[in-house]
Parts: sequence; C-alpha cells; structure tokens
Amino acid sequence: MSEKILIVDDDSNMRFFLEEATRKLGYEPHAVADAESAIEEVGKKRYSLVLLDVRLPGMSGLDAIPLIREADSDAMIIVITAHGTKGLAIDAVRAGAYDYFTKPFKMDEMSVVVARALEKRKLQQDVRKLETKLRRQCSFDDIVGTSSAMQQVFELIQKVVETDVTVLVCGESGTGKELIAQAIHNHSARRDNPFVKLNCVAIPEGLLESELFGHEKGSFTGAVQRKSGKFELANDGTIFLDEIGDMSLATQAKILRVLQEKEFERVGGTETIGIDVRVIAATNKDLAQAVEEGEFREDLYFRLNVFSIVVPPLRERKEDIPLLVDAFLDHANDEMGRTVDGVSGEVMDLLQMYHWPGNVRELENCIYRAVVMADSDIVTPSCLPLYLQSIAESPKYTLPDEVESLDDTLADVEKQIIVDTLHRTGGVQSKAAPLLGVSERSLWHRVKKLDIDVERIKAG
Ligand SMILES: Nc1ncnc2c1ncn2[C@@H]1O[C@H](COP(=O)(O)OP(=O)(O)OP(=O)(O)O)[C@@H](O)[C@H]1O
Ligand SMILES: [Mg+2]
Repeated sequence: MSEKILIVDDDSNMRFFLEEATRKLGYEPHAVADAESAIEEVGKKRYSLVLLDVRLPGMSGLDAIPLIREADSDAMIIVITAHGTKGLAIDAVRAGAYDYFTKPFKMDEMSVVVARALEKRKLQQDVRKLETKLRRQCSFDDIVGTSSAMQQVFELIQKVVETDVTVLVCGESGTGKELIAQAIHNHSARRDNPFVKLNCVAIPEGLLESELFGHEKGSFTGAVQRKSGKFELANDGTIFLDEIGDMSLATQAKILRVLQEKEFERVGGTETIGIDVRVIAATNKDLAQAVEEGEFREDLYFRLNVFSIVVPPLRERKEDIPLLVDAFLDHANDEMGRTVDGVSGEVMDLLQMYHWPGNVRELENCIYRAVVMADSDIVTPSCLPLYLQSIAESPKYTLPDEVESLDDTLADVEKQIIVDTLHRTGGVQSKAAPLLGVSERSLWHRVKKLDIDVERIKAG
C-alpha cells in the first residue's frame, strides 16, 4: 500500500505540481488549500506525511503544526517556506516539523527530503513496536522473566484477570507466588477494592475464627471492640490465602464453609454476613499428594484447584537470572542511594552455577547484600556470601579407585551428595528434598540410614 501524503498550499499551481510529483514518486497524495482543512483531514485519515505551506490564508502553517501533531502524532510534517524566510523554517522545526525546504525547489531535492522523513517515521514505528514487544516479554508488572516458563505464567495471568475464577498458585518458597496473586488482583475488575492477605498457618488455633470472620464486642475475653475478619475486609475484592498446604484440618473446614456458602457470622454475633470475594490461594506443597495422604481435604482441594498457575523453581529457569539481577540492582540502588550498575562476568557465572534453593527471594537478598558490600559500581565475587564464592571449587563426589562392594560405594556417594545438598540448604531437609528429586519422607529415611548429622550441618 502506498503512503498517503497530505499537501497543504493555497496556491493551486503549487498544489497541482506537488500532487503530480508525489504521485510520480509512488505516493498517494491528497491536496487541500488551508490549514483548517488539513487538520480536519489528518483527524480523518492516517497520513504518513504532511507537506505544509507556511503562509496560508486563515491559520498559518506554523500554528497548525501542534494541532496536526495532536491529531496524529505519527505524521511527519515538512514545511515549505518562501525563499529568504529561513527563520520561519527554524520556528517550524521547533514547533514539531521534521524538516523544511524552500521555494523554489527542485524535484529531486523534495523527493530526498520526503523519503528521509518517511524512513524516519518507519524507524520510529519499528522501535515502538519492539519496545512494546520487549516490555510484554520481559515483565508483567513487577514480575520479570524471559524464560518460556515465565512467559507461560504471564499468559495465564493475562487470561485469568478477565475472569473471577479461583486461582491456585503453586511453587516452591520464594518463586514469586504472592507477586503473582497481587498482579492478578491489580489487573482484575476488582483492582480498586481490597486485596487481603491471610496466612493460613500463622494464626493460632484459638484466634482462627475471629481472624477469619471477626467478632462482636464482648464475645470473648479480650474482645473489647467489634472487629471485622479477613473475609469481611476483603469484600468486593480479593482474598489471598497463603500457604494453604500447611493449614490445619480445622482451618480447612472453616475456609471450605465460607467458600461454599459465601456467608458467615462474626464470633458472638447472630447477623449473617454475605460476601463477594475472589479467592487466590498459594502453596509450596504438592496438594494432590497431601490429599492422598489425608492431610488436605479433597473437597477443598477441588474448590481451590479451578485454575492453577505453576511457577517453576529458579534453578529450572536460570535464563531469568540476568534480568532479575538488573531489576534487584535497580531496587537496591534506589533504596540505598547507590549507583552499582552491574555484576562482573565472574559473579554472573557463579550466580548461574548455583542451585538457588530459596529461589528468587534468595537471589534478591544476595543482590541487596552485594550492593551493600560493593565498593565500586560493579559487583565482584567478594561481595557475595562465602557459600556462593566457593561454589566453583566445591568438591566433586569421589569414587574409590577400586570398588570392593557396589552397595557400600553407592551408599558412600549417596551420602556425599545428600550432605553436599544439605550444606547448600543450611541443613533444611524440606528444601534439600526437591533439589534431589525425592520426597521429604524419602530423604528423611536416607538421612537416618546413612547416619547423616543434620544438626552439625545446620550449625555450619
Ligand atoms: N519474577 C520475579 N520478578 C521480580 N521479583 C520477583 C520475582 N519472583 C519473586 N520476586 C521477588 O522475590 C521475593 C519473593 O517473592 P514472593 O514473596 O512472591 O514469593 P512466594 O512464592 O510467595 O514465597 P513463599 O512461598 O516463601 O511465601 C519478593 O520480594 C518478590 O518481589
Ligand atoms: Mg508467599
């Protein structure tokens, strides 16, 4: 499709000449005689370029420039001025015109200026497209990630924000589950209503009901005032049920009831309160397995697991590390008034080698610490915690020169691997198990069988 060019000149000979000339060059010209018609025309059709005479009856070309740009900020404007009015041409460029040429002009002079302006317009559009694409690919709100796993997460978020369905976010600790829950709320129709977080394990059993549903004044000792519960506070908004995999069966029963009935009473109250909340739940547990083992109610599981988003651990998407490092450097610099603008190649290698049992949170802490430690604008290995500095030289597992007993040798290597992994997780078995690809229970048995001193590992 040829590019549309709008010609604005009160001189009919000039209009005719420019129309002929631009048509010959392969463009699609349209000519008008005054600025007012030009503004109207630009508002109606998408012109790539406007050839604008400055001296016009009525509004001058100069005054029309900002109005044309307002109507279509992508249209390039080239002004045509009479010989000896260079000052006017400069004013025009200041007002937002791209270039000018002076009358009388030669055909090829005009065609070069026009071609250059159109090329510039195309470049600007390409850059804008790329920028949008890049922004879409690298982040969703504050969540950054270029890995295909995170791209998929962004797509799922995008889909689910248009609905009101219950979302279950699954992933290891520190993978960004809360960030995702918040992003869903922020982009949903409920964004102007509350986002209330409820940590399902942090509540003492005795206070549970009051925490969830609130209480009336005097309903129990210490209830000096009426208090709204989390569900009531989240009304018309979103409630984020965090760590649902660890809640007691008693809590599960209460949560299930309110999810089913969408109403409840405050502790000590008789009034039934109806609520409208969107539920987003998060867990680092395998809920299906918890159901099988009788630790999680199946009916609640089905109610929560309507639409699930699984966030993979950082060690499975290490290509996200450079982008995360940049984001955390920015945050840390802002907070601490520093100007650390990158990490050395050696540091990046170490960050890529590590297994990140604490996932993105651990990386975030690591970068904040590095910014504190850095005494130049580059993070060097000495700014990293010791366990990361030494990862490159961490011992490989050793095999005996001669195998006397296969079972003993395997047990020995198994012990080395487990001890090594436990060192990396500070002795925390629940974090070591997924790194080893075994269940916590299985790891626990192996630790006993191989007589591994976890307490000593914990003590460092
Ligand atoms: N993709 C990401 N981009 C930027 N920051 C992230 C990303 N993922 C996690 N973070 C940051 O890492 C930290 C941990 O994230 P978050 O609290 O959402 O994890 P979580 O999965 O809820 O962890 P837990 O299970 O321990 O509660 C937060 O400070 C969060 O801002
Ligand atoms: Mg969390």
